[in-house]
Amino acid sequence: MANSGVTNYDTIMGRMVVDQFLCTETEVRHCIEEKKTHSPEDPITLEQLLLDKQFVTNTQIKRLRDLIRESKDVSSQIPGYKILGKLGSGAMAVVYKAKQVSLDRTVAIKVLPKKFVQKSDYVERFYKEGRLAAKMNHNNIVQAIDVGEVGGLYYFVMEYVEGKTLHDDLAKGKIFNEDEAIDLILQLVSALGHAHAMGLVHRDVKPKNIMINKNDIVKLADMGLARETSDIKAAKNEKGKAFGTPYYIAPEQIRGLMDIDGRADIYALGATLFHMVTGRVPFEASTPSEVMKKHLKESLTPPDHINTALTAGISEVVEVMMAKNRDERYRNMEDVMGDLKAVRNGQPPLLARQKFNVESFEELEEGMVIDEPSIGREKTYSEEWATRYRVGVIILGGLSAVLALIILFLMMK
Ligand SMILES: Nc1ncnc2c1ncn2[C@@H]1O[C@H](COP(=O)(O)OP(=O)(O)OP(=O)(O)O)[C@@H](O)[C@H]1O
Ligand SMILES: [Mg+2]
Repeated sequence: MANSGVTNYDTIMGRMVVDQFLCTETEVRHCIEEKKTHSPEDPITLEQLLLDKQFVTNTQIKRLRDLIRESKDVSSQIPGYKILGKLGSGAMAVVYKAKQVSLDRTVAIKVLPKKFVQKSDYVERFYKEGRLAAKMNHNNIVQAIDVGEVGGLYYFVMEYVEGKTLHDDLAKGKIFNEDEAIDLILQLVSALGHAHAMGLVHRDVKPKNIMINKNDIVKLADMGLARETSDIKAAKNEKGKAFGTPYYIAPEQIRGLMDIDGRADIYALGATLFHMVTGRVPFEASTPSEVMKKHLKESLTPPDHINTALTAGISEVVEVMMAKNRDERYRNMEDVMGDLKAVRNGQPPLLARQKFNVESFEELEEGMVIDEPSIGREKTYSEEWATRYRVGVIILGGLSAVLALIILFLMMK
């Protein structure tokens, strides 16, 4: 039977739906095989097949189509760079591998579609943060090289990382052992500490933005890429499929607070560490809004309750990093680093313990019962302290009675 041929466009579209987890590679291959069985008189597009099989919605296909068209137009026009191929795509952009002609080096270029850069305050932020990011120089941050605009589209040139993302490992079901996870996270703590000190908050720390190069050096990507809080609205509207489910987002970002600070990155990094050592995201649900509700309301299951091979120490650190109220988290990355290094060396995380204990004492003093613990272990700790308190009273009572008997005995002699 004559076949209607697979176009270059089909290949790009096929790769994008897989990249965005709308369907699997096998499913796309089946669609392509089915397309080939159609005669030229009765052709069918890959898009139509994907829609018919309900792998994608109309809105998702339209967005992907726009993304492909716009980035194709622009990528061939970026002055000073020669596009070598596509590296991947996310919810908001396409990333290309390119050659920076003047320096004869390989770079990665992220091209943002018009939709995200229409508002002037976004463009202003894009340049401002891009300039700040380019000033940063840290071995664990993907180096920003250039930002620019061509044909109404904005692009971000950065260091090319040859390797994989942390998401690639987690998607394969990898569970990191405690030491391995801490060693990796410590590199990110250092990177984010550096960024925070320079006044930049990442706001989108997640496994997809964490790259691991060929020498096992961690590189934090998308630093300085201004994010829209409307991402959250978009996630709600599209049922998250194409925008990614907000598995790592801090509660204050969900609430749309304007004064997001470094503690939002601490939460997201804690959620990433949680995923690495348990093999699960902290809060799972069928829709993004349900996931977000859980970030706001549901208490965290301590990681050592899921993976019993973990020490209480790492669990406590994750719980403090992921406290719902940011005032109960670590104050900064330096504090996170201190506790993580302690746990790595087999010592207790003193700052985390202090936080648990201070709150437990306050509860005991006030006779308070917290309904919705912000730090998951609070209840366990306050119960432990209450028990210790009761035992203390009993022992003291017993000692006093014995002392009184001795005094009585001596007096009677
Ligand atoms: N500097 C880089 N070097 C090499 N590959 C990169 C680089 N930056 C991004 N990539 C690749 O491009 C892909 C798409 O990146 P992008 O930031 O657009 O989306 P994402 O982070 O995967 O997801 P999301 O859209 O949810 O943020 C990444 O998954 C990664 O594989
Ligand atoms: Mg990214």
